[in-house]
Amino acid sequence: MANVVVVGMQWGDEAKGKVVDYLAQDADYVVRYNGGNNAGHTVVIGNEIYKFHTVPVGVLNEGVTAVVTDGVVFDPSVFVAELKALRERGIPADRIRISRNVHIIMPWHRLIDNLEENSKGDKKIGTTGRGIGPAYADKMSRTGIRMAEFINPDRFKLRLSECIKRVNALITKVYGSDPLDEEAVYTEYSAYAREIAPFVCDTSTLLYEASSECANIVFEGAHGSLLDIDHGTYPFATSSHCVAGGACIGTGIGPTMIDRVIGVAKAYTTRVGAGPFPTELRDEIGDRIREQGNEYGTTTGRPRRCGWFDSVAVRFTARVNGVSAIAVTLLDVLTGFDTLKICTHYLIDGKEVRDFPTDVEELQKAVPVYEELPGWSENISDARTFGDLPHNARNYVNRIAELVEAPICMLGVGRRRDQSIILDAEMLQM
Ligand code: IMP
Ligand code: MG
Repeated sequence: MANVVVVGMQWGDEAKGKVVDYLAQDADYVVRYNGGNNAGHTVVIGNEIYKFHTVPVGVLNEGVTAVVTDGVVFDPSVFVAELKALRERGIPADRIRISRNVHIIMPWHRLIDNLEENSKGDKKIGTTGRGIGPAYADKMSRTGIRMAEFINPDRFKLRLSECIKRVNALITKVYGSDPLDEEAVYTEYSAYAREIAPFVCDTSTLLYEASSECANIVFEGAHGSLLDIDHGTYPFATSSHCVAGGACIGTGIGPTMIDRVIGVAKAYTTRVGAGPFPTELRDEIGDRIREQGNEYGTTTGRPRRCGWFDSVAVRFTARVNGVSAIAVTLLDVLTGFDTLKICTHYLIDGKEVRDFPTDVEELQKAVPVYEELPGWSENISDARTFGDLPHNARNYVNRIAELVEAPICMLGVGRRRDQSIILDAEMLQM
């Protein structure tokens, strides 16, 4: 029996879904605790490709209850569409549970997200435009609408009418855009509420009781630690707690109930949207990584920025997450390069820096210092043990573990579930 957190150690898209999917084979619950439909998950099972943004990936595993907890911001229109897609493919959705406390992403959140970005000129964050930031802003301002209010028609009507007056003033007077129609929003959204109500419960109690009864729970962190609102590269960050601590904040489960934290890092680095990225490759090597790794966003389809592995960044996120071990994914993407580089430290204003600076201005000045390692040309996607890997690939992985100062428990060598090398099975034991 175990409660395990899986968390991204870079700027998101670390192939966490693959690690969650591995653990979910023995899990009773898979929990989404932060973010919203700015996250995108692709799961490949046989010839079927599933893309999810709101429904937790765990829904594809038989016997798993997929839970959306308090820390999430929830777009009912997206959920209802995903629910329909699931049912059309014959996947039962009755094992989904959603917290009474999630904040609802309303149409004005999406509108303001885009209006705000468009007003920023060259200071754009490059958000996904899904209304995530504005929904969290309302939550913190204590003006948001929570699920418990949303699924109660009288409470929802009242809250909607309060919110829309304020929001329409903002939309028309500050942004000079058209106001929203209260009646139309009510009609559309109360239909969603009726469909969602049967899934809603007190998820904190549900998980506490499950844990007391020795259930296996996987907490699936969305995005990546470097996008965390506090510990990430603010303001080029998302608006939620992406680090492992977010699992407690976002679920109402106490820290002493977490047994292990598995950090997930790519064998290189990617970032979508704007913001500092010291090891970025704006050249043909970066393009080659993008093509070999199919590095295009699941949510927005944007090409991801690509670069070398940054051990300064990942050592930092190993620390803030308190990782027990690391899963290094997409190692196969690096096949065929003569030389690989790993960033060991930065130079900032000529000074050697080994601790990741979270102040953007400082990080923007960071010049990466690299160590070069010989690459490998053998296809590694059929390797199933560490010994199956070519010497140079083993060398590369060992050097990452050394620099990041954390043990590696798993390697990803391909997209499929079985294309993994398990180095420490106990770490991944539920
Ligand atoms: P927002 O989360 O839509 O507000 O976007 C804020 C920043 O986080 C933008 O740079 C996005 O590209 C980035 N972001 C949000 N979610 C993800 C994710 O799941 N993977 C990678 N980047 C993300
Ligand atoms: Mg993603």
